[in-house]
Amino acid sequence: MKAERNKTIDMTVEEGKIYLDRCVRLFEKAKLENILDKTIVGDTFQNLTLLPENFVDLLIVDPPYNLAKNYHGNQFKKTSDELYEEYTESWIQRVKPLLKENATIYVCCDWKSSLPIEKVLKSHFHIQNRITWQREKGRGALSNWKNGMEDIWFATNSADYTFHVDAVKIRRKVVAPYKVDGAPKDWEETEDGNFRNTYPSNFWDDISIPYWSMPENTAHPTQKPEKLLAKLILASSNPGDVILDPFLGSGSTSVTAKKLGRHYVGIEQNEQYCCWTEKRLEMAEKDVTIQGYADGVFWERNTTALQQRAQKK
Ligand SMILES: C[S@@+](CC[C@H](N)C(=O)[O-])C[C@H]1O[C@@H](n2cnc3c(N)ncnc32)[C@H](O)[C@@H]1O
Repeated sequence: MKAERNKTIDMTVEEGKIYLDRCVRLFEKAKLENILDKTIVGDTFQNLTLLPENFVDLLIVDPPYNLAKNYHGNQFKKTSDELYEEYTESWIQRVKPLLKENATIYVCCDWKSSLPIEKVLKSHFHIQNRITWQREKGRGALSNWKNGMEDIWFATNSADYTFHVDAVKIRRKVVAPYKVDGAPKDWEETEDGNFRNTYPSNFWDDISIPYWSMPENTAHPTQKPEKLLAKLILASSNPGDVILDPFLGSGSTSVTAKKLGRHYVGIEQNEQYCCWTEKRLEMAEKDVTIQGYADGVFWERNTTALQQRAQKK
């Protein structure tokens, strides 16, 4: 029995049959109209070769990290850095022809997978930055430092790319309210306190991982928060652009893309995860809110009441 406030999506494939039926399976080269805004069920290495060339504006990849991990029956085995580099090279080779000339690429990883991933990315793309996401959760280690961060590599296909910095500003409380001629300098006085919309850096400490009382939460073992995806999508795409995620998991990329008016294509081998994705896409028909993003800005952790008040105004 789930607790009343537990919103975790965790249906079986049998329970989710109507959702699985909404997904597509590819047996031959696909046309864009057959895969746009769809979840493709199956192996990404096979399916990527069946997609049209030159259709992706933004590629978001959250591959299995080089760790032993059980994805509800599909075991990913930890391997050497050299073999993980080959694995990375093999999906990049397949995905590269699908990208538009001015496409952007984000790849998520932990510190260990980051080294081989960076090596492969830089041999194909222009690396623009490495974002560090400070996750507040993670397993403690008895003889090592607990892992509290992840990397997100930001690369582009060419020197010409989209970046909307004003769409990803962070509203922060002003600690030292500096005034010029008696007027706030770059900050705002409100009933709830003094705030400034700050430029986002490559260190992200404002995003929690999804937890059981959040409507976006599923039973996926490595689900990414919608707030994190919203930053990538708002900065690096335009409304109507096409976003591809070849390791879709519980669907966070597609769901956030839909909420923000972008097209999406996702590939996932696990049928159960595809059901959860479709359930979330259905929920996004009625609710386009993204926890932590309100009033056109991103908010620091633990500011839900402030966000709700800002949205009502
Ligand atoms: C790190 S998880 C992605 C999580 C996702 N970002 C989310 O928010 O739910 C990687 C996903 O890739 C899937 N996967 C691994 N190898 C795959 C393959 N060869 N083809 C398709 N999916 C694969 C796994 O089942 C897993 O769901």
